[in-house]
Amino acid sequence: MVGSFLGLLTIWLLLIITATAVTYDAEIKNRRNLLANGLGSTPPMGWNSWNHFNCKIDEKMIRETADALVSTGLAKLGYQYVNIDDCWAEISRDEKDYLVPKKSTFPSGMKALADYVHGKGLKLGIYSDAGYFTCSKKMPGSLGHEEQDAKTFASWGIDYLKYDNCNNDGSKPLVRYPVMTQALMNAGRPIFFSLCEWGDMHPATWGSRIGNSWRTTNDIADNWDSMISRADQNEVYAEYARPGGWNDPDMLEIGNGGMTKDEYIVHFSLWAISKAPLLIGCDVRNTTKDIISIIANKEAIAVNQGMFIITKSQLIYLIPECQTAMIKFLVTDRLGVQAKKVRMEGDWEVWAGPLSKYRVVVVILNRGAWRTAITAHWDDIGIPVGSTVVARDVWEHKTLKTRFVGNLTATIDPHACKMYVLRPVS
Ligand code: GLA
Repeated sequence: MVGSFLGLLTIWLLLIITATAVTYDAEIKNRRNLLANGLGSTPPMGWNSWNHFNCKIDEKMIRETADALVSTGLAKLGYQYVNIDDCWAEISRDEKDYLVPKKSTFPSGMKALADYVHGKGLKLGIYSDAGYFTCSKKMPGSLGHEEQDAKTFASWGIDYLKYDNCNNDGSKPLVRYPVMTQALMNAGRPIFFSLCEWGDMHPATWGSRIGNSWRTTNDIADNWDSMISRADQNEVYAEYARPGGWNDPDMLEIGNGGMTKDEYIVHFSLWAISKAPLLIGCDVRNTTKDIISIIANKEAIAVNQGMFIITKSQLIYLIPECQTAMIKFLVTDRLGVQAKKVRMEGDWEVWAGPLSKYRVVVVILNRGAWRTAITAHWDDIGIPVGSTVVARDVWEHKTLKTRFVGNLTATIDPHACKMYVLRPVS
């Protein structure tokens, strides 16, 4: 009797210990940061082939794009990733199961392309899929080949991997994506890992353990409704963005022709304040001055990247010994806080986010069809109510003469915005 009681007790205790160990293991696994590649301390900047070219890509245009990023001055502003999207590989792997760059379009292979791009001071990105085929179905995915593919990418000198979600085995992203994370960690080269599973199961809540950025939305299209709704969906997850891991509302459509200049300015402003990846999606080899002036707006880029520009007079004020210093300095702040929509009514909205040195970035947005006056109030945007503020207009590149107390009102055209960096001075 006593013996069988002790036996039962032992089994019961063993069961408890095992169950606790299993839960503990799962918890540790869940909480552990699988990705420690040190990348993405600021949102990634660069170019991607998909939005403009879809599957019509080849090594010549990738090389020309790298050249154009340098000759337009965009590279110097931080646009460093040249990212090849879908359709770069043959439909079948080789006899040893390696991915093969498509012979008709990438005859020199990816190593040669990476060498070329690196020679320009830029980085090369590539694309694969956590499924059996990519979304185009024109090339294999990496499901079941993660270790081999990650090592292949590393051996080619790849710096960035966009990892899509089509044609998978029906298992959850949280099952498939970490396998590639681990494979990248074993590959021997830091590779920025961009999760592209379109927001399934709220990747913002787990993405930073697994990737450097995560898509929060379905694919963007080159029109106002698509662009603005991506910004809205992405905004919900603002709390989760931080250095090392960013919400991704999809790549830029600026320059592809489907929106007005004002709408493209709204697009860039919202992506900049949302700390979104700034991945140009147009043909940078053939683009207009107007388009370059949007994507090359240094002040908007500085907000996105968490840097601020100080002029010579500000510098001398801070450090009087700098009388003979250079004209401009870029200072990093690296706060990495994503802005939020703080007020809305009908067609008007106010978005705001904190920057370093008590500055605040605000975007005042008119989504409607009529010109309208919109007011941003200090208590809505995180500035002490009694403060006097100096406002820098990021698109006019002008510091406003008026000092603002308590609020700032701007009259905004339809489908347009104003973007200000506000600096409290008293
Ligand atoms: C998916 C992605 C897009 C693009 C295409 C390529 O739709 O979300 O960004 O990569 O696949 O086929």
